[in-house]
Parts: sequence; structure tokens; C-alpha cells
Amino acid sequence: MQRPVAMIAGLGAAVPSTVITNADLEARLDTSDQWIVDRTGIRERRVLQPGEALSDLFVTASRDALAKAGLDFSAIQAVICGTCTPDRRLPSTACDVQAKLGGGPAAAFDVVAACPGWLYSLTVAEGLIATGTYDRILVLGGDRVSSIVDQQDRGTAVLFGDGGGAAVVTRSTGGRGILGTSLGADGSLAELLYIPAGGSTEPPSDKVLAEGGLYVKMAGREVFKVAVRRMAQACQEVLDRAGVTADQVKLLVPHQANLRIITATAAEAGVPMDKVVVNVDRYGNTSAGSIPLALAEAERDGRLTAGDLVLLVSFGAGFTWGAVLLRW
Ligand code: UT7
Repeated sequence: MQRPVAMIAGLGAAVPSTVITNADLEARLDTSDQWIVDRTGIRERRVLQPGEALSDLFVTASRDALAKAGLDFSAIQAVICGTCTPDRRLPSTACDVQAKLGGGPAAAFDVVAACPGWLYSLTVAEGLIATGTYDRILVLGGDRVSSIVDQQDRGTAVLFGDGGGAAVVTRSTGGRGILGTSLGADGSLAELLYIPAGGSTEPPSDKVLAEGGLYVKMAGREVFKVAVRRMAQACQEVLDRAGVTADQVKLLVPHQANLRIITATAAEAGVPMDKVVVNVDRYGNTSAGSIPLALAEAERDGRLTAGDLVLLVSFGAGFTWGAVLLRW
């Protein structure tokens, strides 16, 4: 097994205070608590309100992560933010978070990889540490999915929530850290989960707005199948690369999109459900926030012990997917 070069030295997460329950959705959509719970396992989700920003969640999560790592923000050399819902088109949310935490000169940039955005960012951070470029990187992951979902579309409105997390990634000590990563994508499947307009090809306009072109379109059933297959493959690949078997994994932290997807992925990956972190019931799908939120909860709940093998896996629009194996 290769020796890790980078590790998570501190972890934090944050969600908005406003809770939207299934009963709230029943009151304004043609849906039911029973349908949502049976098909997704989701009972409630959190959403940011006007005047609140995704970068505010990142600031809260970052302060927590920095405190746990025993570092001041001035020691951070780069901020990498996995998000597909930046506060604004320019600058990057990484730059906005950096400004709120005290300003430059740390490098700052966003990684757009949808739900696996945090795993992609973690992998980039590991590479920067491996090449000797940096020693201390703040890796953010999160989304304000409520800003890109049509709240009148029952096919998507019930699934998503807002949230984010942060990790201070440093040079590894004591054999802790990233043992392997596996990232992948298939852009030919883009139309299964995408936002038709609002980019440079078709900028926002009255027509785009009237057609709902700024909202997520999703072929749920097709996404479901590809998600399970790709996540199971990514798990296998990262375990094989590290020379580890599924029964050695102490905790699986899968993307929190849907309880049925989580259960199917865990079964395919050969990890029993008592070793799987599930919080989709309370937050829904927070996209790039999903894994850091679940990992931070697992740490808070005492489910992570030094030396444990922890497997993280995610998938999302692109299609993108990724898995990361950690020694905690
Ligand atoms: O990070 C990646 C993000 N995307 C995902 O993770 C999505 C993956 N896909 C899924 O999680 C599931 O496919 C869904 C939860 C989206 C849908 O579950 P499903 O079991 O695949 O249902 P379905 O799409 O086949 O729809 C079944 C029925 C349909 O009605 P008919 O055609 O059978 O009459 C839908 O119109 O359920 C209906 N339906 C709803 N009914 C009540 C769809 N959404 C709702 C709803 N409430 N919110």
C-alpha cells in the first residue's frame, strides 16, 4: 500500500438554518411525504434564504476546519472550491471565501465537477502537495442547489438542499491520509442531468427565463442506473489500486442523493449498511456538500478512529464520478 502524501488535518461543515420538510412540499406541490420517503429516503432539507450566501457556509465550515487543524487562515497557501453554484459568475467562490477569511495572497480557484466536486478538489490538492508546490490547502465543497432547481418541478424540487464543508489538507504525518483516488467522467451523458442555458452559448435572457432554461433538467431513472454502476466501479478501482479489499473498509461515505442509490452502491461495493454513513434523510442531496457534510457528521458522532480505512464515493452531472480512499 502506498504511503499517503496528503491528509485531512481538520474538517468542518455547515448547513443553513431554514428547514424545508416534506410536509412543506406537500403543501405546494403534487407530491406526498410517503412518495418522497419511499423513493428517496429524504425527510427534510436545508435552504439558504435571500441575504445568505453559499460562501457564508464555507466561512463557517472553514473556521471549524482551521481550528481543528490548529492553523490560522494566514497559513493557507491555496483555496480550492468544488461547486457548480458559485455566489456569482465572477470571481470564483474560492476568491469570495478567501476575502471573507482575511484576503490574499493564497491561490484561489473553483473546480466545476458537480456532486463529486469536493473529491475532485481533494485530488487536485493532493497533487499540489505531492509536487511540493504547497503544504497547506483549504479544500471546500458545497452547493446552493436551491438556486438552480425549479421549485414547481416535483421531479427535482423534493431531492435537493443546500450545504457545504471544508477540509484543511496538509502534508501527511503518521501514515494518515489519501491512499488512492479514482476520478472519471463521461461528457456524452451530459443531457441526463444539466442546465440548458445561462452559460456563454445562451446567456440569461427573457426567453431563457420564460422557458425555465436556468433550471436543472434530469432524467432521474437513467441517472440512477449510471450512478450505481459508476460508483461501484470507482470503489473497486480505488481499492484495487491501494491493494485493499472491501471487508477492510471501516466506513463508506457515499454521495447522499437517494437512500436507494446508497443501498444499491454499498451492496455492489460489498460494504454492509452498518458501515455506511447516511444523512440524506436530513439534508437531501447537497451536491458537492454531500460528502464533506457526511464525513464531518461521522467524525462528530465518533464513527472515525485513527487508522480506519474510509472510502468516499460520488457521482453527478457531467457525468462525473470519483472515489477516494483515506487512512483516517
Ligand atoms: O446527484 C445526482 C442527482 N440526481 C439523482 O440522484 C437522481 C437519481 N434518480 C432518483 O433518485 C430517482 O430516479 C427519483 C427519486 C428521481 C425518481 O424515482 P423513480 O423511482 O425513478 O421514479 P420515476 O421517475 O420512475 O417516477 C415514478 C412516478 C412517475 O409517475 P408515473 O409516470 O408512474 O405516473 C412520476 O411522475 O412518480 C412520479 N413522481 C412523483 N410523484 C410524487 C415523480 N416525482 C414525484 C414526486 N411526488 N415528487
